[in-house]
Amino acid sequence: MSSRNKLIGVIVAIALSHTSFFPLAQAQNVGLGTPISESQLADFDLIAGPDGNGLPVGSGTALQGKEVFEAQCAVCHALNGEGTSGNTVLVGGDMHSEGTPLRTVGSYWPYASTVFDFIRRAMPATAPKSLSDVEVYQVTAYVLYLNGIIDQYKVLNSETLAEIDMPNKDGFIDHSQAQ
Ligand code: HEC
Repeated sequence: MSSRNKLIGVIVAIALSHTSFFPLAQAQNVGLGTPISESQLADFDLIAGPDGNGLPVGSGTALQGKEVFEAQCAVCHALNGEGTSGNTVLVGGDMHSEGTPLRTVGSYWPYASTVFDFIRRAMPATAPKSLSDVEVYQVTAYVLYLNGIIDQYKVLNSETLAEIDMPNKDGFIDHSQAQ
């Protein structure tokens, strides 16, 4: 083979192995690059902050949440939140214990908004985002009630939820302003 032909061969090989020659055609075939709609975006952007920002309209009590919990959560978290495995325990624990502390919603989580946010985003584990906002308020209230943080009649909504003092709220160091 002449050195000129060798050179052409190398160039063709590079062109063929270089997949960036093809994405435009592929993108058109599989429908990539379609702009996301506002409502689709809102579905991703379900962030509830500690100050209540991002919490939706709605309300609920633990008394109402008991039914949701027993139907949708107890299969994995057990009837009183005691869990069915190491990582499904929702109640109890003590961050000040001498041994390895058991971290639960009650012992560890600093904000009630995170409980709401996590349940709305990720639970039930087999069908995330299947609960209505009202059901999430109800079942969040029930999980807090099981931990002895609120009573069963306390009405949770975007204002009252942000006001709850979690037992471990001072157990974290805020590094957000660190230089
Ligand atoms: C199919 C089993 C399953 C079901 C049903 C389920 N969960 Fe969970 N849940 C899990 C598992 C597993 C974890 C641990 C996940 C992890 O640590 O990432 C978890 C974690 C959690 C946590 C965080 C616990 C912690 O301290 O990290 C909360 C709160 C929670 N679930 C609430 C609920 C609620 C409320 C429901 C019902 C609406 C529910 N879960 C239904 C399996 C389940």
